[in-house]
Amino acid sequence: MASPRTSRLTGFYKLGVLERRRRLLELAGLPADGFAAVDPGALPLEVADGMIENVVGTYALPFSVAVNFVVDDIETLIPMVIEEPSVVAASSNAARMARPRGFATTVSAPVMIGQIQVTHVADLEAGAAALRTAAPELLAEARRLVPRLAERGGGPVALEVRPLAAAGPDGAVLVAHLHVDCRDAMGANLINTLCEALADKVAAHAGGRAGLRILSNLTDGRTVTVRCTIDDAALASADAAGPDVRRAVAAASRFAELDPYRATTHNKGIMNGVDAVLLATGQDWRAVEAGAHAFAARSGSYRPLAVWRERPRVTDSRRPASEPGADDSDGLDGELTMPLAVGTVGGALHVHPGARLALELCGAHSAERLAALCAAAGLATNLAALRALATEGIQRGHMALHARGLAKAAGATGELVERVAAELAASGDVKADRAREVLARLSQSSVVKESP
Ligand code: MEV
Repeated sequence: MASPRTSRLTGFYKLGVLERRRRLLELAGLPADGFAAVDPGALPLEVADGMIENVVGTYALPFSVAVNFVVDDIETLIPMVIEEPSVVAASSNAARMARPRGFATTVSAPVMIGQIQVTHVADLEAGAAALRTAAPELLAEARRLVPRLAERGGGPVALEVRPLAAAGPDGAVLVAHLHVDCRDAMGANLINTLCEALADKVAAHAGGRAGLRILSNLTDGRTVTVRCTIDDAALASADAAGPDVRRAVAAASRFAELDPYRATTHNKGIMNGVDAVLLATGQDWRAVEAGAHAFAARSGSYRPLAVWRERPRVTDSRRPASEPGADDSDGLDGELTMPLAVGTVGGALHVHPGARLALELCGAHSAERLAALCAAAGLATNLAALRALATEGIQRGHMALHARGLAKAAGATGELVERVAAELAASGDVKADRAREVLARLSQSSVVKESP
C-alpha cells in the first residue's frame, strides 16, 4: 500500500465503525472487503488449530488505528490491538503534538544473536583461543547453510567467543555467539537451526560438550532509536501552560532515571504502544518485551528506555544573552532506544489475515520500517502518559473513555453514548449498573420529548 495522503484524521474517534472503515479504505487504497480480515471469524478454526496445540476457539481483541503519525517524513496509520482504553487515543494525541516534524528513526542492521553454550571445557583459555581461530571456517559453513538469506544480503556475519566460568558444576563454560543478519525475518527459526547445526563443531574446537543452542532475546545488535521534538505550544493543556508541562515532563523523565520502581512503569507506558503494534502485526511480543527489559537493565540498574529533555531555545547570537534564571527552553526533545526484533516475513504472518492487514495499513513492507513504527508508537505513548501524569493525572482521561465504553456496553447508541458517558464521568460513579440506569432514564426522557 502507498502511504496515505495524510494520517491527520480530525474527529476520527467520533465516527461510527463503518464510517471509520470507509475513510481508511479510501485513504489507504485498500480493497472494499479489506476489513473482513478483522471481522469476527476471520481466523478460521481450522487455521487456528494448525497454529498451536489443543485449540478450542479463537480469541478476539479490538483492532484499532492510531492516527496523526508522521514517521521519517511519511504519513502513517498505526494499527493497534490492545484491550486497555486510552492507549490509541493517547498515542494519536501525542503524534498530533509531534507534527509536522513527526518522529525520526535510525534502525540498526537486523543482526540477531544465536548462542551455542559449551560446558566442561578442558582448558578455558586454550579452548576459547582455538574457537576464535576456527571462527572464519565455522562462519563460512554457517553461510553455506543459508544461501537464500545470503542472496538477500543477510546471513551469518560474525562468531564471537565469550568465556563465562572457569569452574563450577558444569566445569569451565564458554558461549559462542553467532551473529546473523536476518533481513526481514524475525529470525528465531533461522538462528536456532544454525546453532543446532554448528553446535558439535563448536564444542569440538573448544574442547568441551555442546550445551544449549538457542537465540538470545537480548537483541542488542538489532535496535531502533526514535526522536521527536515538541513545541511548548503543542504541550499546553486546558489547565496548564506549555512551559509548565515541558518542565514537568522533563522532571518525570529524571524521576525514572533515578528510580527503577518508576522506570519500570515509565517503560510499561512505552510498551503500551510498542506491544499494541506488535500484536496487531502478528509479532512475537514476548520476545520484544524480554529484550526491552534486559536492555533497560544493561548498565546494571534498570533504566528508562526513553528520556525527555528541555530543548534549548535557539538564540539569536546578535542579541544579548538572556538573564540568569530566564527560561532558555521552548520545547521538549524525546529519545527512545530499544531492541526491536520484528519480521515482515514468516511466523504467524503466513496464516493470520488480521496481521497481514495491519502490515498493509501501516505500509510496513520491511522489518526495518515495522521496527521504526513500533518505536514511534512507544515514544508517543510515553509522552502522552508523562504529559497526563505531569498535569491532571491519568484518571480523568481514563474514566472518560471507560465511561464511553460502559455506555456502549449498556446499549447506548448515537448521541446517547456521549450523554450517558458525560453523566457517568461527572458523577464519578463509572460503573456498568449506573450506565444502565442513566441510559434508561435518558432514553425515557428522549421518548417523552419526542412524543406529540
Ligand atoms: C498505564 O498503562 C501506563 C502508565 O502507568 C505509564 C506511566 O506511568 O508512565 C500511565
